[in-house]
Amino acid sequence: MAPDIAERNTPYRKVRKFHHPFTALPEQNNGTSHPIFYPIIKTMAEHLDISNGTKSEKYATLLPQIAAVVEVETDLIARMANVAAMIHETFGFLWTGFYRVESAGGQLILGPFQGPMACTRIKHGRGVCGKAWSEGRTLVVPDVEAFPGHIACSSSSRSEIVVPLWKDGEIVGVLDIDSADLATFDATDARHLEEIAALVTDDAK
Ligand code: SME
Repeated sequence: MAPDIAERNTPYRKVRKFHHPFTALPEQNNGTSHPIFYPIIKTMAEHLDISNGTKSEKYATLLPQIAAVVEVETDLIARMANVAAMIHETFGFLWTGFYRVESAGGQLILGPFQGPMACTRIKHGRGVCGKAWSEGRTLVVPDVEAFPGHIACSSSSRSEIVVPLWKDGEIVGVLDIDSADLATFDATDARHLEEIAALVTDDAK
C-alpha cells in the first residue's frame, strides 16, 4: 500500500547529525580560533544560512553547510550543482560554476553553474580556466582586462577566480567565479574556495 504523504516525507524531515573531518570535536579543538575548527554538529539544512558579516564570516557559515551537502551525496555533478548555488546565493557573484575536464583530457566542458549563459568548451592553457588547469594552481585575477587571453563569456565580468579541483592527484575540473566588480577576490577567497573544491571531490563518484 502506498504510504501517506506524512510517511513519504519522513526521510526528508529526519534530523541528521554528522561530524565532518574539517571540524574538530571540542576536546580536539585546543581553543583554536580558526573558523573551520568550531565544534560543529550540524543538522541537514533545507535552506541556506547566510552570514551578514565579513567575507570570512560568510565562508565560516557556508563551509559546514557545504560539508553537510557533500556528506549525503557522492555524485560529482549533483555536488557541483548545489555547491555552485550555495556559493552564488551566499555572495551574489555574477557567475559561479564548474567546468569539468572531458574524459579525453583536451578541454574543459561547462558543468553546473549559476548566472548568465557561458562558453561551453575551453582548451587546456586557454583563458583563466585553462591556465589554472595547465598550471595546477588557483588564479586570482583582479582585472580580467589585464589578463592576457582572458575569455569574456560575459561583458559584465570585471574580476575572476579559478580554483582547480583535484581528485586522486589529477585535476578533474575547475571552480570558476566571476564578479561584476574589480578586485573582488583575494587570498581569503582562494583559501576557502580551495577548501570547498576539496569537499566537492572528496570521495566523489
Ligand atoms: N573567463 C573564463 C571563461 C569562463 S567564464 O568566465 C564563465 C576564462 O577566461 O577562462
